Amino acid sequence: MEQLHIEKMLEEKGFIDEPIDPEIKLVEEINRLKKEKNAVILSHFYVDGDLQDIADYVGDSLGLAQEAAKTDADMIVFVGVHFMAETAKIINPSKKVILPDLKAGCSLAESAPYEKFAEFKANYPDHKVVSYVNCSADLKTLSDIVCTSANAVKIVESFPKSQKLIFAPDKNLGNYINSQTGRDMVLWDGACMVHEQYSVEKIADLMDEHPDAELIAHPECETPVLLLANHIGSTTALLKYIQENSSKKYIVATESGIFHQMKKAAPEKTFIAAPSVDSTCGCNDCSYMKLNNLQKLYTCLKHELPEVTLPEDVIEKGKIPILRMLEISK
Ligand code: 13P
Ligand code: SF4
Repeated sequence: MEQLHIEKMLEEKGFIDEPIDPEIKLVEEINRLKKEKNAVILSHFYVDGDLQDIADYVGDSLGLAQEAAKTDADMIVFVGVHFMAETAKIINPSKKVILPDLKAGCSLAESAPYEKFAEFKANYPDHKVVSYVNCSADLKTLSDIVCTSANAVKIVESFPKSQKLIFAPDKNLGNYINSQTGRDMVLWDGACMVHEQYSVEKIADLMDEHPDAELIAHPECETPVLLLANHIGSTTALLKYIQENSSKKYIVATESGIFHQMKKAAPEKTFIAAPSVDSTCGCNDCSYMKLNNLQKLYTCLKHELPEVTLPEDVIEKGKIPILRMLEISK
């Protein structure tokens, strides 16, 4: 409610759509404001390239959480989506955390509302809850530990084999972890709208067309796509793979923003976007991540709004599973 209130207030004050002087050099102004306010800009690999280039740190969800945990800046500007900024706030309750567009949500986080998940969890009183970081701060308060795609297998394996587990909210990542660990975690039925739309048939055709290409995939993809993949990993892991692997061509089954870093890291290689079921939809773009732009980043830094705030009890309870994850991931 509080966030909606802030958003409404901002819209009333015209901050979000504030007209910007076309003469303003946005990159210069953002860098000036950042310095003046002792702010740090953290960007995810899925935002547009100009927003990755202006960041102090660009990375995957784990790297961003680790960076947020160690920053000595007074303000964190999170160029990504809402759950990532919430995680930064939980780790840094005394710092101001701002996000260029509060509407930058996540289909996975939205698939697991607090009340419904609490009811679900009550059916499994002897299970512990491992939650994927792509969930609301409220959901994290119902979790024993958080994980990201980079450390999910390690986090799950930190529990004894005999410990029964619930994994939420991504059923695809959950299935992948089950396959890697031989566990039988109970899975919440959520999925990422970007990673679940790939067509395995079209991917197989593309692989036939390009026998010299490797398929690399994020574990949020559905099982049939993962079964075809030469390599599966978080965004950082995929980026590392294309730099270390000898292949010259890759079919990439993850969000389009990653191409920016891949092309920078290996300009001599070819990267082909994995095809979607609907070829007209531009589905490789996460519409939430793409709500961020330089104009909004500038306005956000200038007004220090919209701010991500959370109730104290959510911060207190949410901190426990996040810090557990960070401890195990050192
Ligand atoms: P990672 O960058 O942690 O692999 O996460 C991908 C993602 O979907 C973030 O929303
Ligand atoms: Fe959420 Fe998927 Fe967008 Fe990541 S790519 S923010 S998981 S909807």
